[in-house]
Parts: sequence; structure tokens; C-alpha cells
Amino acid sequence: MSLPLKDRVAVVTGGAQGIGRAVARRLVEAGAAVAIADLNFEGAEKAAESLESAGASVKAFRLDVTDWTSIQTACESVLVQFHQIDVLVNNAGIVGKTAPIQDQDVADWNRVIAADLSGVFLCCKAVIPHMISRQSGRIINLASVAGKEGNPNMIPYCAAKAGVIGLTKALAMEVARCNILVNAVTPALIDTAMLEDLSPDQRTYLTAKIPIGRIGTPEEVAAMVLWLATDEVCFSTGASSIVV
Ligand code: NAI
Repeated sequence: MSLPLKDRVAVVTGGAQGIGRAVARRLVEAGAAVAIADLNFEGAEKAAESLESAGASVKAFRLDVTDWTSIQTACESVLVQFHQIDVLVNNAGIVGKTAPIQDQDVADWNRVIAADLSGVFLCCKAVIPHMISRQSGRIINLASVAGKEGNPNMIPYCAAKAGVIGLTKALAMEVARCNILVNAVTPALIDTAMLEDLSPDQRTYLTAKIPIGRIGTPEEVAAMVLWLATDEVCFSTGASSIVV
């Protein structure tokens, strides 16, 4: 049986570690060539090297999703290297400060919105013309259950992730007739370095809210992202799938 993503090219933003690295691994195992694009270029190189050893075509690219020029440059470099982009996984993100609104200043707000919401907008904007010209594409956005339900002391993050869900629905409608599917996943708490930025109280509060009763793993999110990237999913767009 041939691999589900054979001859496809996937870009994973923020793929140097955590959920992004697990996603990159699953995409590689499914046969895709993968571009790991991250602000942490050295981390992206290490992640690419570890996957290349399995004989896969994986390359690291320098990318800052808050910077339009950086996004355009990375996009061009990926196209020079791999000639096409079939799948874009908008995974790069930050959690920001854990604090009530009166202790979040405008810089805290702007930093999170730039990375978590504007970054998704800009990466989609960069890749969509290419996907439209090929009449084919898959975009999977990492939102969060925080964007659906809201959590206290994380207003910039919750607002950004709610924005990603809205962006996903609207873009899905814009490009549905171009054979481009745009979906989001909304994980609960996942065991990555991002949790180090949460206070112990916030971590306990968020864990207690998870119906399954435990923190998830990056691999559990990656399984859902992989599925959304394959042809198994061909009549669903604009969805926000929960991973708990
Ligand atoms: P992480 O902190 O382990 O990894 C984030 C990656 O994004 C890092 O490699 C980092 O260098 C990269 N990055 C950060 N800012 C960037 C920028 N401006 N440009 C390019 N790359 C940048 O985080 P984790 O947990 O793997 O999160 C991945 C995504 O999943 C994020 O969007 C996060 O909001 C989302 N998510 C995470 C959850 C969790 O509990 N860990 C739960 C729900 C969603």
C-alpha cells in the first residue's frame, strides 16, 4: 500500500520542538517531504537531522511568523527546494503572560496576537496564491480549546486562538471551491515546553478541566493533524476538531 502523503510537500511552522516536531515526524512517516520552519533555526535543523536519518526529505528553514518579509523569504526558499506546497500546518505559537487583564499591558497583548493570530493570517496569505494556482491544498491551524471556552488570566492567548478559529472558518469558505481544505485543531493541555510558561496554579486549573482527566501528548495531536492532511478527509472544511 502506498504512503498516504507520498509526493506531497508539507510546511510545519514552529516544527523545531513540541507539537510541531511530532507533526513533522508523522508527516514524514506518511511519505511527505517536510519543511520545518521555525524562529529557532538551530532547533529546526536538529529536528530535521533527526528525521532525515530515517531517509526522509526534510529541511530546516528560518522563519519568524510575525514578520511578513521573513514569511515571504521562507515560502520562496521552500518552493526553490521542494517546488510545491501541498500542506501548511500553522503551528508556531506562544502562550504569553499568565496574568489578569489589569496586569497585561499592550506589549503583552501585541506579542501574543502577532505570533498566534497575525502569524497564521500571514502564513495563509503567503501560501494561498500558490495553492489556488494548483487548485489543491490543505491548511491545518493549531488553535486551542482556550479559544473555544476561554480561560482566566490568558486573555491575549484565548483571544488569539478564538481568532484562529474564526479565520479558519472564513478562509475555508473563501477557498472551498479551489479544492483547498482549511481546518483547525483545538487541543487541551499538551505536554510540551509551552507549559513551562504557565504558573503551577494555572496548570492545575487547566488540567482539572480536561474531560479525559490527563494532559495530552504531542503525538496525540499529531495523529489528528496527520489525518486532516490526508485524503481520508475530503468533505470537511472550516472545522475545529477537539483533541482532549
Ligand atoms: P512549544 O513552545 O513547544 O513550540 C512552539 C514552537 O514555535 C517553537 O519551536 C518556537 O520556536 C516556535 N515559534 C514561536 N514563535 C515563533 C515565531 N514568531 N516564528 C516561528 N516560530 C515560532 O509549543 P507547543 O506546545 O508545541 O505549541 C504548538 C502550538 O500548539 C502552538 O500554536 C500552541 O498555542 C498550540 N497549543 C498548545 C497546547 C499546549 O498545551 N502545549 C494546547 C493547545 C494548543
